[in-house]
Amino acid sequence: MSAKIISGTETAKAIREELKTEVTELKEKYNVVPGLVTILVGDNPASQSYVAAKNKTAHALGIHSEQVTVPGDISEDDLLALVDKYNNDDKIHGILVQLPLPGHINEAKVLFAIDPDKDVDGFHPVNIGKMMLGEQCFLPCTPHGILELLQRSGVETSGAEVVVVGRSNIVGKPIANLMLQKRAGGNATVTLCHTRTRDMDFHTRRADILIVAAGVPKMIKGDQVKEGVVVIDVGVNRIGKSESGKAILAGDVDFDSVKEKAAAITPVPGGVGPMTITMLMKNTVQAARQSLDNKE
Ligand code: GUN
Repeated sequence: MSAKIISGTETAKAIREELKTEVTELKEKYNVVPGLVTILVGDNPASQSYVAAKNKTAHALGIHSEQVTVPGDISEDDLLALVDKYNNDDKIHGILVQLPLPGHINEAKVLFAIDPDKDVDGFHPVNIGKMMLGEQCFLPCTPHGILELLQRSGVETSGAEVVVVGRSNIVGKPIANLMLQKRAGGNATVTLCHTRTRDMDFHTRRADILIVAAGVPKMIKGDQVKEGVVVIDVGVNRIGKSESGKAILAGDVDFDSVKEKAAAITPVPGGVGPMTITMLMKNTVQAARQSLDNKE
């Protein structure tokens, strides 16, 4: 068997068209332009390229976007003051502080300082708590993108054995939680594997849907999955540079061996990545809509 490719690029394109229409409607009906600020601390090249991609996408959808870059040695107090400035800026509906932050800054303190109504990353404890309870909230962008990819690809999740590899706050923990929620796109039986899991292969071979977010290039091989599995590869690992200086990317899944057994698989690049950025835009549009409700 050679797997069907689940294209994040194509799915993201369709969602972006829907968002463009929504942005136009917000402007025409309510004179509101969704606004996003991205805050980048320091000069990490990967973070620079992610933030640039986020701003470019926002611009293409008609979302007002501001990109703020501050030096890597900014004090925690100054960063908190910057966040607060945007908490109080009516043009800005979404605030994103790009992670990771330098070691001298308490990441949790900065994320908790973002107004939960502007937390388009979905990292604030208020939003994480609401997500766990199944309440309306901003969902973290990568897990949100995975849900959309599965749903729009027609993958049945109800009753499925879902195995997640990786327990990060950004991907592993929230996607495991979302997949078990009692609603469409959820209702799965979920296993969450991590670095201390005793027999990883035992779990990955049982998966109907395997979601890998471990940050280890090509970690999952064909002999670790069963025939017919649906594979979502969240990994974006820079494994080298092409002659033109462009980063060569690999996922956490060994695409060539796994695609021979899988029913469907996301590629890297062009899988989860474009979906993450698109869901950030979706959350920003949602934040702008909610700001109207709060004014009523
Ligand atoms: N760094 C890697 N992924 C993310 C993300 O989704 N949001 C933010 N803010 N930083 C990140």
